[in-house]
Amino acid sequence: MLRTAAETSALIAFLLSTTTATVSNGTSAVTGFPPCDAFLSTNLTSRLVLATSPAYEPRVQSYWSGNARLRPWCFFQPLTTQELSTAITALTAAGSGAGDWHIAVRGGGNSGPGISNIANGITIDLGMMNRSWYDPGSGLASVEPGAVWKDVYFSLLHNGNVTVTGGRDGGVGVGGFLLGGGNSYHTTRNGFGCDTVINYEVVLANGSIVDANANKNADLWRALKGGGMNFGIVTRFDMEAMPAVDLAYGQSVIAANYSDQVVDAVVDFTNRPEELGRNDHLIVLYTHDPKSSEDVMIEVIRANTQGNLNTAGFEKVTDIPALSSTWELKSLADAANESQVAGGGKNVRATLTFLNKPPILRATVSLHADLVRSLSSSIGTSNFITQNFFQPLPSYLSAIGQRQGGNVLGLDRIPGNAILWTAGVSVTNGDDAAVALVHAEVSNMMVKLREVAENEAGGVDWVYLNYADVSQDSLGSYGEENVGFMREVAGKYDPEGWWQRMVPGGFKLERVTG
Ligand SMILES: Cc1cc2nc3c(=O)[nH]c(=O)nc-3n(C[C@H](O)[C@H](O)[C@H](O)COP(=O)(O)OP(=O)(O)OC[C@H]3O[C@@H](n4cnc5c(N)ncnc54)[C@H](O)[C@@H]3O)c2cc1C
Ligand SMILES: *[C@@H]1O[C@H](CO)[C@@H](O)[C@H](O)[C@H]1NC(C)=O
Ligand SMILES: *[C@@H]1O[C@H](CO)[C@@H](O)[C@H](O)[C@H]1NC(C)=O
Ligand SMILES: *[C@@H]1O[C@H](CO)[C@@H](O)[C@H](O)[C@H]1NC(C)=O
Ligand SMILES: *[C@@H]1O[C@H](CO)[C@@H](O)[C@H](O)[C@H]1NC(C)=O
Ligand SMILES: *[C@@H]1O[C@H](CO)[C@@H](O)[C@H](O)[C@H]1NC(C)=O
Ligand SMILES: *[C@@H]1O[C@H](CO)[C@@H](O)[C@H](O)[C@H]1NC(C)=O
Ligand SMILES: *[C@@H]1O[C@H](CO)[C@@H](O)[C@H](O)[C@H]1NC(C)=O
Repeated sequence: MLRTAAETSALIAFLLSTTTATVSNGTSAVTGFPPCDAFLSTNLTSRLVLATSPAYEPRVQSYWSGNARLRPWCFFQPLTTQELSTAITALTAAGSGAGDWHIAVRGGGNSGPGISNIANGITIDLGMMNRSWYDPGSGLASVEPGAVWKDVYFSLLHNGNVTVTGGRDGGVGVGGFLLGGGNSYHTTRNGFGCDTVINYEVVLANGSIVDANANKNADLWRALKGGGMNFGIVTRFDMEAMPAVDLAYGQSVIAANYSDQVVDAVVDFTNRPEELGRNDHLIVLYTHDPKSSEDVMIEVIRANTQGNLNTAGFEKVTDIPALSSTWELKSLADAANESQVAGGGKNVRATLTFLNKPPILRATVSLHADLVRSLSSSIGTSNFITQNFFQPLPSYLSAIGQRQGGNVLGLDRIPGNAILWTAGVSVTNGDDAAVALVHAEVSNMMVKLREVAENEAGGVDWVYLNYADVSQDSLGSYGEENVGFMREVAGKYDPEGWWQRMVPGGFKLERVTG
């Protein structure tokens, strides 16, 4: 009879408890899973969550994407950097000659299937390392990787009255967001979230704990600014803090037939120079949501990070008649808490970047409408939610990154003001076949869009890691120079290529072929 890992694990625990067998030297019994048994030689078995534990299933379900809720043999939940270091040393020695197993590393758990979750192996779950605090002496806010942004914002607001350049959706995790760049309300002012990290505390593959900043391990510091899970596990981000000024913040809903005006407003907004644009932030998304009576609606989020309710930045958008609209002062903590996209659906996504040209934006709108029509007939109009996102990517963001010490995002490869486009589909009711179909449709949409962009002389080979589908070559798109640099850094801090080999999820340097 075939059993799932969870059933097997439960069976073994049951057998062991009824025979009172203790196979190890006292701390705990073997599980039969090499990476979980690696902990028998440490005093950290109490930090393991096996499938037999009541804490196990809630942890699986806490991943944002329904299809990312893979069931590992065990979770390891360190409370401190030292515990993680001990664990890494134990794991590097584990499983000689054993069958296939690997490791996933989880921050906030917002990425997709197989990225920070795994079935054949162990998940290092940083969720219990979730504190944040402010040091007025240095002006830095220290943020642990397993926190989600709303908790960071509330904590820093109430302990120091400061804030940081983090996520907009309060449910997004710190670790993945900052390692993949981090597009924030404050990005036009401060750069990507990673550009504001002054120091990283990192556990390397040999278990040693190092700091990476402008003076110490400066190459590692720069590589971590956008290079993802390729160099080590970050256990603390020391970030530039700023006063917690309330945002001027609003959301509006606009009918889809105003699309042409919306596109023009986005293009206009994106072309604003740094001196005009640095405090304003705009996100526009077209969405099909069965909760709405319309097939597609347009949602607009506006923020002025300096609390300027009279900013002129959004005039073109607010001139368009809206079905509903808000505009008020709001703390970043409240804004993040209130704008959490519900998880649980099986998610598919894709991203492209293209120059800020109206015909390309309009093409996404009609491709999105095609997608909604097609999925409505294939999987049923009430079984999915879509998003077709526009995020302004003005060219001056590259210079901000440079001023902050440089990153590996390769933004200088984008020859002008651009739009960071993403499509997302959440299958709320459907099986694996439905998800496979959506994956193919979204990928084909991207192929068509790339063609349009090229025909309009607006194609850009730049794929933002935090939004990329696993089929996309994000790191490669950051350019040969950055890939070469990241390879050098990975080789220096992980000479055995342990992270490349043992942590396969997400975007790995080893898989970049160019
Ligand atoms: C609803 C929603 C809203 C979003 N909004 C934004 C946004 O406003 N701006 C933006 O830029 N992105 C946004 N994203 C994308 C988001 O940044 C990525 O999904 C990011 O990976 C989430 O980080 P996480 O820690 O929650 O993810 P995880 O799934 O936990 O981790 C993602 C990757 O990072 C690695 N990782 C995590 N922590 C560490 C660590 N400490 N050390 C080493 N590796 C680590 C993991 O191994 C994995 O490869 C959003 C995503 C969702 C689902
Ligand atoms: C348990 O055994 C491991 C090796 O199997 C050893 O390293 C460790 O020191 C032992 N612990 C105790 C408490 O005896
Ligand atoms: C494990 O042992 C170390 C070193 O003796 C100690 O500092 C730590 O508190 C112990 N951890 C646990 C979880 O018991
Ligand atoms: C934060 O971590 C602590 C343990 O350090 C844990 O008890 C708590 O549940 C965590 N909070 C969240 C929101 O996960
Ligand atoms: C917090 O900081 C903001 C911005 O500097 C300021 O306006 C506000 O008065 C401060 N709040 C408190 C309680 O100090
Ligand atoms: C959009 O539709 C609404 C009513 O359905 C109508 O009042 C409005 O004039 C239309 N706008 C455009 C730009 O077509
Ligand atoms: C976050 O938002 C929810 C829902 O609006 C609300 O119930 C909760 O009190 C908010 N949390 C905080 C800390 O304000
Ligand atoms: C761990 O790796 C780093 C980077 O390669 C190296 O500098 C350090 O000496 C190593 N530490 C040990 C104890 O081997």
